[in-house]
Amino acid sequence: MCGIVGYLGGTKDPKEVIINGLKKLEYRGYDSAGVAIWNGKNFQRIRAAGKLKELEKQTTDLSFQGVVGIGHTRWATHGAPSERNAHPHQSGDITLVHNGIIENYLEIKEFLKSQEVYPSSDTDSELVAHLIRLQLQKTPHFLQAVREVRPLLKGAFALLVVCDRFPDEMIALKEGPPLVVGLGTNENFVASDVQALLSHTQRFVFLEDQEMAHLKGTHIDFYNSEGQKQTPVVQTLNWSPDLVEKQGFPHFMLKEIHEQPRAVAAAIEPHIHLETLSVKLKNVNFSHQTPRLHSTDKTDQTTEELFHDIERVFIVACGTSFYAAQVAKYYIEQIAKLPVETDIASEFRYRHPVVPPKSLFLVISQSGETADTLAALRLAKQLGATTMSLCNVKNSSIDREAHGHLYMNSGPEIGVASTKAFVSSLAVLNLFALALAKAKGVLSQSQEQEHVQALLSAPSQMEVVLAYDKYFNEAAHRLKLFKGFLFMGRGVSYPIAMEGALKLKELAYLHAEGYASGEMKHGPLALIDERIVVVMIAPQDEVYEKSISNLEEARARGGKVWLLTNGEASPFKTTTEAFLHLPKAHWAITPLLSVVPLQLLAYHLACALDHDVDQPRNLAKSVTVE
Ligand code: F6R
Repeated sequence: MCGIVGYLGGTKDPKEVIINGLKKLEYRGYDSAGVAIWNGKNFQRIRAAGKLKELEKQTTDLSFQGVVGIGHTRWATHGAPSERNAHPHQSGDITLVHNGIIENYLEIKEFLKSQEVYPSSDTDSELVAHLIRLQLQKTPHFLQAVREVRPLLKGAFALLVVCDRFPDEMIALKEGPPLVVGLGTNENFVASDVQALLSHTQRFVFLEDQEMAHLKGTHIDFYNSEGQKQTPVVQTLNWSPDLVEKQGFPHFMLKEIHEQPRAVAAAIEPHIHLETLSVKLKNVNFSHQTPRLHSTDKTDQTTEELFHDIERVFIVACGTSFYAAQVAKYYIEQIAKLPVETDIASEFRYRHPVVPPKSLFLVISQSGETADTLAALRLAKQLGATTMSLCNVKNSSIDREAHGHLYMNSGPEIGVASTKAFVSSLAVLNLFALALAKAKGVLSQSQEQEHVQALLSAPSQMEVVLAYDKYFNEAAHRLKLFKGFLFMGRGVSYPIAMEGALKLKELAYLHAEGYASGEMKHGPLALIDERIVVVMIAPQDEVYEKSISNLEEARARGGKVWLLTNGEASPFKTTTEAFLHLPKAHWAITPLLSVVPLQLLAYHLACALDHDVDQPRNLAKSVTVE
């Protein structure tokens, strides 16, 4: 978690570059923030507890004489959120910012004690600054000192280090959390994420684990894990800086909810042939390290050949991405007739899983950096599985390490609560299920065409559902008075119920549960009284009647029922508290539609309660620590 920005070079005001960059990274953490900028004598440090605006207040009247500086926005791991624990951390003439966790911090602390060095914060990060300072007493070379400290650190870390003695230098090193170097003209940048740098450059070098970048003046040397200089792979992104602005919406989350129709269209576009209404997954690009499944001697298997041989699918993810995985289980089992196991990444990685031969292992991650999901992917590779990723952020760690690749194509998602990446994932997972089914020979052409047509209609149907924005804006003030929320659904609507509950918990901080409607009688019915809102998601599908029976059971016990359905309105208009009509759609498309009102419900409830929607308490968008 945590966001890092560094600037070295040209003519820009480092304070502006760093603070504006940190604004784009605040989604990664907002417990405290700080900068250290060269002032002609040393790196002057300013830190503030709380959100970035507190730091801005403290730096408004400051100007600096140098053109080099580093900054940080923190999601607390070691040490409470406070100014004392805020980055940058300093030891003598060393100043650094850190994202990640130093696991052997106790051991390092003991060592420092033996050297009579006592940290002034509770963080693991400060210890690294002391180690580098001590090392710099033994060697006159800044780079050498940092390089020698690195093997002493265990854990996950991205570090940016500067030193008063070498004011035109900056060292970036990555071992886990992401770090990208932005290449400018006579100036260079470093950040945790390209979003911080898009207004300055479109040319980036993504550091790999154990790589280092040594910025000196306008020059940069890149080093591989063996410490040898290497030619960097420069990637040009064509993301416009506008993508990371609010564009008139009060919050990124609302902007992203409204972008969903476009996001779904962009997600499916590369894989659909419009004339024939057929599916072919594009640019999956299985790498040469992919375990070979096909019985022939061919070294290069096509995606279709590989899918043909798959006998079981695993899908692993965290949070909202996990709920996308659960929807995909229904898709793949029903459409491709393949058994699917889904798991939360933090469970999968520690439960000694059995992954049989001929398993396809898919991980889903918007950020592509979630630590548990990445660890699960690595474990699956060790166990011999053929792996694939479905990410939003291209070139993220998960994208780079998987054998094959799918993309959400949603554009940057800044709101901490995931919305557009979720619906884009569902859209791609529809196509994934169809592609598996085709490769397995269990899909007729008419089924394929009907499904593709339904998917192509999804964006315009989503536009219709977005009209509930106004409705929830008004209903939120009524809804915020309730004690709790129970979201219920069956089949593909069951994970949507859980996603609805998660959104409400994380944004409105209200008690909410997502349940399979059929489980009601096994406990949750006891929760229901007139102070509980029951949100029933019941599209007209093969379990519709059963869902309606569950609705009546909730109503009979005094629950205030809000029904989301594309079924007949007349029986429910008067018997439910609210009847929210959804467009008629193919069963596999209904989750893309029913989730939208749930996002809007959580968003408006959080606003009515005066919560910071884009930065809910205690959370961060990119969970790069376990
Ligand atoms: C909830 C939310 C989180 C993420 C989870 C996984 O709104 O955003 O639950 O879905 O942290 O993140 P990714 O998809 O980046 O791996």
